[in-house]
Amino acid sequence: MKKISSQLKKFQYFYPYTVALVGARSEAQTNFMSCAWHTALSFEPPLFGVLVSKKRFTHQLISKAREFTVNFLAFQTVKLAAQMGRRSAYDMDKLKEFQVKLAPSTVIQSPVIEEAYVSFECKLAEIRAFGDHDLFAGEVLAVHEREKCFNAEGVLNVRKISPLLYLGNDFYITINPDALQHVVPD
Ligand SMILES: Cc1cc2nc3c(=O)[nH]c(=O)nc-3n(C[C@H](O)[C@H](O)[C@H](O)COP(=O)(O)O)c2cc1C
Repeated sequence: MKKISSQLKKFQYFYPYTVALVGARSEAQTNFMSCAWHTALSFEPPLFGVLVSKKRFTHQLISKAREFTVNFLAFQTVKLAAQMGRRSAYDMDKLKEFQVKLAPSTVIQSPVIEEAYVSFECKLAEIRAFGDHDLFAGEVLAVHEREKCFNAEGVLNVRKISPLLYLGNDFYITINPDALQHVVPD
């Protein structure tokens, strides 16, 4: 028997999702927040979307900067994800407080996160409202990838990187690399 709900109190049945730090620099302000709701939108042109609640400081910042970076974290940096996702720039300078190391972007002004195994530099293409979150769609202008993290086809090397997955409600997990299968239909 399956339980069927129609008046949803929680809405996170689709997790786990990988965790990225998403943020931007506008004038003197730089900030990042943890983001699980993100998605590729198009190959050509390469478009990537992040869903950010209107309540977030980062929402204002990306709207002003008209650009953002998306920085994927490995499981070892789980604490940083929790810190950047449970504290707000409305209350503190998170970058200083949590000693986040930044690196310069090559095309845009907003920096990438040094700890990330892969980062995207995105130019804002469009903002669309969906309920209480806005979709920021960005054109990916550059990708920074840590050495040997992806094979020639762009597949993540799970022996080298354990991606950080979020289950909701402050629970995190990673994948078991021994479960890897390469499955090609007959
Ligand atoms: C793992 C994790 C993932 C999150 N994903 C999102 C998300 O996809 N979109 C969103 O608006 N908030 C998300 N949040 C909440 C924000 O990261 C959080 O409210 C943060 O404090 C906002 O920071 P800011 O106010 O400095 O922008 C997430 C939080 C955590 C812990």
